[in-house]
Amino acid sequence: MENDLQAIVAQAETILKTVSSRADWEQAKATILGPNGSLTRAAKGIGQLNKEERPAFGQALNQAKKKVEGFFKTSNESIEAQADLASLGEKADPSLPSVPSYLGGTHPLTNVRRRVVSIFRKIGFTVAEATEVETEWFCFDALNTPDDHPARDEQDTLFFPPNSTWANITQKAKEAHVLRTHTSSVQIRTLFKEKPPLRIIAPGRCFRRDTVDATHSANFHQTEGLYVDKNVTVKDLKAVLDYFLKELFGDKLETRLRPSFFPFTEPSFEVDLKAPNLGKLSNKWIEIMGCGMVDPEVLKLVNLDPEEWSGFAFGLGIERVAMILHGIDDIRHFYQNDQRFLSQFSNAT
Ligand code: PHE
Repeated sequence: MENDLQAIVAQAETILKTVSSRADWEQAKATILGPNGSLTRAAKGIGQLNKEERPAFGQALNQAKKKVEGFFKTSNESIEAQADLASLGEKADPSLPSVPSYLGGTHPLTNVRRRVVSIFRKIGFTVAEATEVETEWFCFDALNTPDDHPARDEQDTLFFPPNSTWANITQKAKEAHVLRTHTSSVQIRTLFKEKPPLRIIAPGRCFRRDTVDATHSANFHQTEGLYVDKNVTVKDLKAVLDYFLKELFGDKLETRLRPSFFPFTEPSFEVDLKAPNLGKLSNKWIEIMGCGMVDPEVLKLVNLDPEEWSGFAFGLGIERVAMILHGIDDIRHFYQNDQRFLSQFSNAT
């Protein structure tokens, strides 16, 4: 009987060598493995054996079955491969190299934002976020910006109809919403949520009713920074910004703080930088960002005692950094989606 099994294995091998279509393969399978197939019939023979002979026959049967199934599997794969080739048509040459796939890249503004964030992360800043539609209160009042400040002018700011979401914080929050004109509102939202000491960086989109030209866009990006702790001084502010700007523009960079005014910082400064490696802008003082020490009025508003806590804040335009870094002379390039422009920076950081 074991000879029968060997014969069946040989039969399977021979038949499958001649099989070239799915129908032939099915037919061969029925002949050997089907309910009336030769192997199935041979297996039934076990009933006629006495007890001692059965284990050896069982083992031989399993081995034969495995071999036969292996032949069917190989044969099936080759039938499928042939069918695939046939479906490609006569002209297909599978040995040709494949068409290269196009790899997308990141936008230059994304690259700069990521780089700015990673520089601050190294010195313990974490990322904070807030909504782009902001209440007038968070955008202006809470930042010590009075009603008659020009930033609140309808000509400068994009207003939304009133909404009462933040009415529980202050009556004034019932007023209009705006598309935030700066990321400084994140300072207030963070200070309401977290206790100092804190260090946050808040990148995000901002909006102003600006007429678009080479240096203005109604939709642009900023990164806010806020540091609140005990005994924070202008020296800390200068040290952090020097570190940041040198990481971004290189070691040869010089910086200076120029007195300025922001309603929510006191004193306030503009930061200028000068560096030898900035193309046309090399070795010239360029204004890069606004900053200052958090105004005591802002600290009081969020229930922090200005005698105990102090801090600094800064705001930086992402487009401006990208333009200086890459020598780009028109802000509109960032939004026109021209591949010839974008692909130059897709993997630059
Ligand atoms: N929010 C200011 C602007 O948009 C920048 C700024 C941020 C200044 C933080 C000081 C401190 O111009």
